Amino acid sequence: MIIVSDLEIQFGKKSLFQDMNLKFMPGNCYGIIGANGAGKSTFLRILSGDLDPTRGNVIFGSGERISVLRQDHFAFDEFSVINTVMQGHEELWKVMHEKDAIYSKTEFTEEDGIKAAELEESFANMDGWNAESDAASLLSGLGIAEEYHHTLMSNMSGKQKVKILLAQALFGKPDNLLLDEPTNNLDLETIVWLENYLSNVDNTVLVVSHDRHFLDTVCTHTVDIDFGKAKQFAGNYSFWYESSQLALRQAQNKNKKAEEKKKELQEFIARFSANASKSKQTTSRKKMIEKLDIEEILPSTRRYPGIIFTIEREIGNQVLEVRNLSQKVEEKTLFSDVNFYLNKEDKVAFLSRDPRAMTSLFEILTNNERPLTGDFTWGVTTSSSYLPLDNSAFFDTDMTLIDWLGQYSQDTTETFLRGFLGKMLFSGEDVYKKVKVLSGGEKMRCMIARMMMSTSNVLILDSPVNHLDLESIQAFNNTLVNFKGVILISSHDQEFIQTTCNRIIELTPKGIVDKQIPLDEYLSSEKIKEQLDEMYR
Ligand SMILES: Nc1ncnc2c1ncn2[C@@H]1O[C@H](COP(=O)(O)OP(=O)(O)OP(=O)(O)O)[C@@H](O)[C@H]1O
Ligand SMILES: [Mg+2]
Repeated sequence: MIIVSDLEIQFGKKSLFQDMNLKFMPGNCYGIIGANGAGKSTFLRILSGDLDPTRGNVIFGSGERISVLRQDHFAFDEFSVINTVMQGHEELWKVMHEKDAIYSKTEFTEEDGIKAAELEESFANMDGWNAESDAASLLSGLGIAEEYHHTLMSNMSGKQKVKILLAQALFGKPDNLLLDEPTNNLDLETIVWLENYLSNVDNTVLVVSHDRHFLDTVCTHTVDIDFGKAKQFAGNYSFWYESSQLALRQAQNKNKKAEEKKKELQEFIARFSANASKSKQTTSRKKMIEKLDIEEILPSTRRYPGIIFTIEREIGNQVLEVRNLSQKVEEKTLFSDVNFYLNKEDKVAFLSRDPRAMTSLFEILTNNERPLTGDFTWGVTTSSSYLPLDNSAFFDTDMTLIDWLGQYSQDTTETFLRGFLGKMLFSGEDVYKKVKVLSGGEKMRCMIARMMMSTSNVLILDSPVNHLDLESIQAFNNTLVNFKGVILISSHDQEFIQTTCNRIIELTPKGIVDKQIPLDEYLSSEKIKEQLDEMYR
């Protein structure tokens, strides 16, 4: 249980949110939603004690444990995988360590004996005897095979570390679990595993996410951070979305009487409850009919960034030729025998059962990585702009937003840069913020602005929707559909691919499958699936 009272956080003069009064109860899963930069991550950092609020306080149920999904991929490099997971329960980890220290002493005093007995007792109370097997079964559930459990973290790939850190957060069933965008960088299979896991836990879970499907599957409640306030609703993301849309329509229609509006709202809730009758939260949602006041639901203030890609030079017929490319990591073949031409109308989605394959291909095509075999040639009329999966290096600086963007612009006058930043939803004092404090989604908006400035005719996009809020995803999506150049993209967002791409290339250890069809057709073809099963074997 978590109780938040009168919470306020200020950065400089600006208050991010204030008067926050919320209660989070066991058995519920709360989806924390809000636009990029609304303050979701900041809120979780306050709850975990990472950051002090300007005002107000946070109380946990007595003796309760809190656990946080960590984002730092290098923090546990010198530990084995299994020990990293067990450190998720700090108290238990400490006792295990102290115990080991005593038993490894050459001389064992009477005092040591008493201390050891105490430690053994708290060890047993925390279910210490099952710790290792619990950690192992979490790892295996997440697809980290047993042969890796005693490997050092430094030898694991980024994708594997994401899963291990997730196991660490879940380890020992913490009373309060905080997850900030847990589905970023997870493959579909693991997302489904996490959905099942979260649907069956009876502790208090808070999850920040922009993934609508994930939110709808796991959340019983929604907390919307908007207008510098946080509002809690019973119901999942779709419920929040539909009801805020209704509120918007009603706000625009001033002629309707309050009574009529109330009736409309009740009907909406009844309909929604009926449709979602499978959900464990139906009863509490029904209770809302009495409680919910139309005045309480505000139309959202989410805004769409202006994403427009202009092309300086029209692309010729020769775009890209790839010959016999292959790559391996850690003895595993990511892809081999990759041969293709790109045409000037191509918008290609790259797929693979190992997501590292796409990142590696893009790094090769942008000369950041060397292939094991093969080569490629870009056409003379092409100029490419790359959105890499990992953008952290770009923001490891003390620069302000306006200076940062100036690096990539021909025109470095403040008026021009401000205009550009305005389109990316940064205005007023925001432009003097240091780029390193930006939220995940704000950083993505900066990276997109950088791409817009390059006026290239080829876009290479590795996981472009990671971190972005739904409004930004939509704006980005619409722009790509109308883009007059060539696109190479990798994304787990099927809708994004479906609407943008006209060609699919799947990279396998035994060559490629290359089809000029939309994604849904590709995925539903039995013939292609059979062929792929053979190629991944
Ligand atoms: N130390 C700081 N100084 C000034 N502003 C800050 C600082 N830390 C964060 N901010 C700003 O506070 C706002 C909220 O950031 P936060 O990371 O909480 O957003 P978020 O809701 O998690 O967004 P996203 O969906 O993009 O992850 C952002 O505009 C960010 O730039
Ligand atoms: Mg965030």
